[in-house]
Amino acid sequence: MKIALGVTGGVAAYKAAELVRRLQQEKLDVQAVMTRAAQEFITPLTFAALTGQKVITEIFSAENAAPANVESAIEHIAVAQRIDLLLVAPATADSLAKFAQGLAGDFLSTLYLATKAPVVVAPAMNVNMWEHAATQENLATLRARGVHVVAPDEGYLACGMVGAGRLASTDAIVLKVRDVLGLRHDLDGQTVLITAGPTCEDIDPVRFLTNRSSGKMGYALAEAAQRRGARVILVSGPTDLKIPEGADWVPVRTTEQMHQAVRERAAEANIVVMAAAVSDYRPAATHEQKMKRDDGGLTLTLEPTPDILAELGREKGQRVVVGFAAETNNVAENARGKLARKSADMIVANDVTQEGAGFDTDTNIVTMYLPDAPEISLPKMNKFDVANRIFDQALSIRKNSK
Ligand code: CTP
Repeated sequence: MKIALGVTGGVAAYKAAELVRRLQQEKLDVQAVMTRAAQEFITPLTFAALTGQKVITEIFSAENAAPANVESAIEHIAVAQRIDLLLVAPATADSLAKFAQGLAGDFLSTLYLATKAPVVVAPAMNVNMWEHAATQENLATLRARGVHVVAPDEGYLACGMVGAGRLASTDAIVLKVRDVLGLRHDLDGQTVLITAGPTCEDIDPVRFLTNRSSGKMGYALAEAAQRRGARVILVSGPTDLKIPEGADWVPVRTTEQMHQAVRERAAEANIVVMAAAVSDYRPAATHEQKMKRDDGGLTLTLEPTPDILAELGREKGQRVVVGFAAETNNVAENARGKLARKSADMIVANDVTQEGAGFDTDTNIVTMYLPDAPEISLPKMNKFDVANRIFDQALSIRKNSK
């Protein structure tokens, strides 16, 4: 994952060098961006050496100004799109004011406006500047916009005064970055098997039965599990999604292939999440040649597919097994029924008729059903956040069953 580290002009700028190292230990790729004032305190060379990348210091540098170099003149847009997070540490009163006002006079403030990635600021300044109503109002504005603030520590300040304003510890800043990126380490050493996407059951060489699953929920689960330290086996039906880097990706097409893949790999897993929309039926026979139109009607004979989740539930041992239920009616009753029938530890149900839930959306509205416990209803949230809530729950099931 990539983060941009904005360094602004305060005495604490030198501490940003240590921060780079710590962020790299989290396997984050760091692009340093320095304001002009920051370069009065520490040279770009330090960050270039630590990050192994060119440090961005100017919005229009001499090389960017060359007419042929249009690409680098819009570098703030490219960087803005590339990063998963913008961290500004130390953040001066001036930089906070620029962000709050939406000024875009230098590279960093332009980057702040241009990025959709989450933003974390770690302010550092003189105590009076910190306590000033202007600074506090700017911070309130930024917080209201969703900017994460790592509050400064109290102590001796470079100006000789004592109070709040000292840059928060590197640990506190890294912890916040990890939190915002969902990089907890609570799945370290665990293997998570996830099924995702639809299955396809062939009728003939050109036609097949499938469903509206996009795979987004399953792929969000894979990403969340990896970020929390798990090794991920992703058994996936056909989707248009990018294969998650680092995951053990097992492409399948039919329910039977998914069944085989899960059987082969389940023994490695501590947690299994079956997010795939599996076809319950398949044509009893697949035609080898393309079926020809006939004047009469056509009846397809279907046979049931194996219930992969139910089979896994029967032999789950120490594994935590989580299933999904996409419903259009009687959600609670159907979900509780599936929980019992499939011997699952949890069923994550959603009503696919609701706006913002279900197939091919980036958000979901789910309720988690657990045996002998009240259900947990979550508000509408993006699928990555839903994925994290599912793993929070799966981990508490593991802990309780130990
Ligand atoms: N599932 C499975 N194998 C199947 C069918 C479903 O592993 N052949 C899994 C799905 O991945 C999901 C859960 O079971 O985690 C529930 O799927 P769903 O299709 O909602 O359940 P069914 O038992 O098929 O119930 P129904 O279609 O009647 O709602």
